[in-house]
Amino acid sequence: MASLAAADARPGATGDIQTDRGNPHWTRYPGDAALDAIPGEDGWPVIGTTFMQLADPDRFARRMVATYGPVYRTRSFGQRGVELIGPEANELVLFDRDRLFSSEQGWGPLLNLLFPRGLMLMDHEAHRIDRRALSVAFKPEPMKAYCDLLGRDIAATVQGWGNGADRFTLRMYDAIKALTLQTAATSFLGIPLGPEADRLNQAFTAMVQAAVAPIRRPLPFTAMGRGVAGRRLMVDWFTRLLETRRADPGQDMFSQFALATREDGTLLPPDVVVDHMIFLLMAAHDTITSSFTTLIWQLAQNQDWQDRLRAEALATTGGTVRALAHGDLARMELTDLAFKEALRMMPPVPALPRRALRDFTFMGHPIPAGTNVGINPALVHTDPGLWPDPDRFDPLRFTPDKVAARHKYAWVPYGGGAHMCLGLHFATMQTRILAYHVLTRYRIEAAPGYAPRWQAWPIPRPRDGLRLELRRIC
Ligand code: HEM
Repeated sequence: MASLAAADARPGATGDIQTDRGNPHWTRYPGDAALDAIPGEDGWPVIGTTFMQLADPDRFARRMVATYGPVYRTRSFGQRGVELIGPEANELVLFDRDRLFSSEQGWGPLLNLLFPRGLMLMDHEAHRIDRRALSVAFKPEPMKAYCDLLGRDIAATVQGWGNGADRFTLRMYDAIKALTLQTAATSFLGIPLGPEADRLNQAFTAMVQAAVAPIRRPLPFTAMGRGVAGRRLMVDWFTRLLETRRADPGQDMFSQFALATREDGTLLPPDVVVDHMIFLLMAAHDTITSSFTTLIWQLAQNQDWQDRLRAEALATTGGTVRALAHGDLARMELTDLAFKEALRMMPPVPALPRRALRDFTFMGHPIPAGTNVGINPALVHTDPGLWPDPDRFDPLRFTPDKVAARHKYAWVPYGGGAHMCLGLHFATMQTRILAYHVLTRYRIEAAPGYAPRWQAWPIPRPRDGLRLELRRIC
């Protein structure tokens, strides 16, 4: 009972917008001097290393590792922090056997204003209790229902791309983003496409954009102002929808959350359900869009793999294009390997933040309680010592023998340990359905010499929306 009380006494649990550093239950930041012994840089006065990191996170991290080694100090967003690079560091931080790290205090400064009290913003016992309650939404029966809903929407939308033209250019990232938003309305919320879903999508998009806005106060005409207004609209709307779903549940994920119970058999309180649902939409949306876009970009450049995946997709449904059943998905094994390789090359969550709750030592470096600690999956995923020829798209890196020969934490696109992505099976299901409907209908090519620029942070995306040539084959 004590732990349930703790869960509901979380700061800001009343539904207000929560700010970050004034939070009384957070660990105190150590003074700057406490990190003097860690090799690294403080960057420029006031701005520190922030802009260098944001401008090209990958190049910055590579230079730091080359200069200072796999444990290095930076100074961004006004605070010194320590980056730990390598599979051992991933294991220490993600598996977190000794409960040394706080996810809430790591992610909080970025997400607390708009997505407070989501699972990633909870720690330890309170987190365990709610994660367990929400897990019902990912059991086989509900997953089968989502599969049907997703399949129906994806098939219809993909078929309509290009308005029936035989050849056309598509901004692939933009098309997938729009499709993922549409499918979220039906499979996550159980509402039909239409003006209501459009309004919610606008509110949600404003929240996502505000999450990384440089001005952190909700002033009029700022991204944060629009984001906070979007959050208000969504909270109101979801709170009303919760009543409806509890009285008459559907097959959508929100209905599952609405009826989820904690270990003592009580329903999750309404504001808790609403916050978890809003957070989950955020966690699901751009990650799927980014990773599926990466996969398609790689398939446009590697036509041999595109052919193999198309042949596998057709074989899955006996040579004809039809609706996919949940049971069909297990046969798309090459697609699974190819998606894993896309997640290696460009993980949608390239870096993960935590804060140390206690002093600890890593690779001989003492690190004090309160330190911001980051790990960098994107860098580890392209380390030539772990992944020979890392820029080459090679799904066969993920055959079981190759996986067994590697460090378990060399590939961590979904994180690991207690906070391991709750939606990873949903993500693999949705991307297989997408791959099936896209590849059985279109051949996808890139214009010769086309080299789109990618924005690396916070979630990788092609700056021009990724212009690809599609030729209809079905
Ligand atoms: C390819 C797609 C996805 C990727 C790469 C991805 C990646 C991640 C990562 C790295 C984390 C852990 C963050 C950390 O430990 O700090 C995470 C957490 C989470 N993800 Fe995903 N995600 C994806 C899709 C989804 C989807 C589709 C959903 C929901 C349907 C989802 C729901 C969540 C939730 C609820 C958490 C928090 C779990 C917790 O803290 O216990 N994700 N995801």
